[in-house]
Amino acid sequence: PAAEDMLLVQDFEEWAQRVLSGTAWSYYRSAADEEHKNRHAFQRYFLRPRILRDMTHGSLNTTVLGIPTSMPLFISPAAMAKLGHPLGEVNLTRAAGDCGVVQAISSNASCSLDEMFGAAARGQPLIFQLYLNKDRSASEALIKRVDKLGAKAIMFTVDVCWASKRTLDVRAKSSAKPSRPVSPSASSATATPTATPAAMASATAPPSAAPAGIAEAIGGYQDRNLTWEDISFIRKHTKLPIIVKGVQSLEDVVQCVENGVEGVILSNHGGRQADYAPAPIDILYEIRCYRPDLFAKIEIMIDGGIRTGADVVKALALGAKAVGIGRPILYANGTHGEEGVRRVLEIFREEITNTMRNCGVSRVEDLRPEMCSYSHGITT
Ligand code: FNR
Repeated sequence: PAAEDMLLVQDFEEWAQRVLSGTAWSYYRSAADEEHKNRHAFQRYFLRPRILRDMTHGSLNTTVLGIPTSMPLFISPAAMAKLGHPLGEVNLTRAAGDCGVVQAISSNASCSLDEMFGAAARGQPLIFQLYLNKDRSASEALIKRVDKLGAKAIMFTVDVCWASKRTLDVRAKSSAKPSRPVSPSASSATATPTATPAAMASATAPPSAAPAGIAEAIGGYQDRNLTWEDISFIRKHTKLPIIVKGVQSLEDVVQCVENGVEGVILSNHGGRQADYAPAPIDILYEIRCYRPDLFAKIEIMIDGGIRTGADVVKALALGAKAVGIGRPILYANGTHGEEGVRRVLEIFREEITNTMRNCGVSRVEDLRPEMCSYSHGITT
């Protein structure tokens, strides 16, 4: 089907499973061990619509750390977009620019920094996601380079502090399935597992045989031994705001505030690191219940399992400034390229608008915590 015929964000996942190469599908879809799902947590939260409210003026416009965005949603950094489509991350940059949303560029992107920043039209804001290199001088050079290229913030990912067994990814190494393009737009989507991540340039050899899955093959340069001192290291080399991504407890949000960080992303890396790490929406709810003062001290965002406009509205009502979307973007890029990514963003825009207005809210800033409730009674 054409991109515009995709009705739900999840439709892209179904289609991606059919048309992506085994390598790409397994790397994108994989999660750790038993693959406990972030998505299921959203089903325990319900909306509480209000009625008879004036909705003449409405807008999804908001900001993330002062960066304007046309809706409260950003593209989470995800590696290796070229595995799904030969143009890779450049498709994401163009679609994000068209839709007025912020893209976080992965340290392990398969396009070069020049290509991605070059594809950004009319000063479109981009955030750079940083994995620290074991060789800190390489990280220092990278931070300075993206600063110069015009990045608006540094997103420091801290949840890859040990290896994980990405079940599907590891299994795929021994049973590679050939690419089966079905639609004309997907016919060019051949696997290119030899793409070299931008941040790896000075580190290890490009991934090829992927003996323990793609994840292990591209992450060799990353320092897994990180501490709070590393925030100061980044701060020393740039004036850009710092967002810590991969925060998985209320206590660590407090520590981020104490360390002068501007923003956090509650995230468990899409379930790819610690299986049974709490779903980010549950941590958000805990903060709302026990430390609502934190929302005024630091911008709190979440990602993981967000697939519908209702998911976004629930997170916003509880206090998230914005939400990140990971896999759906990679799936849509793999099946329909730039057009697919644009369609995913349009579906979110339509569903967020529908959900908000059916709850009696026309502007993002009018969402309130009492518009989302938690139900212990429903389990999945
Ligand atoms: C990721 N993620 C990720 N995060 C990051 O900080 N740097 C990276 O390079 C990557 N790479 C990456 C590759 C793939 C294939 C996936 C699926 C994920 C994690 C990502 O930013 C985000 O946290 C999750 O994907 C969010 O969950 P959903 O939306 O995929 O459920």
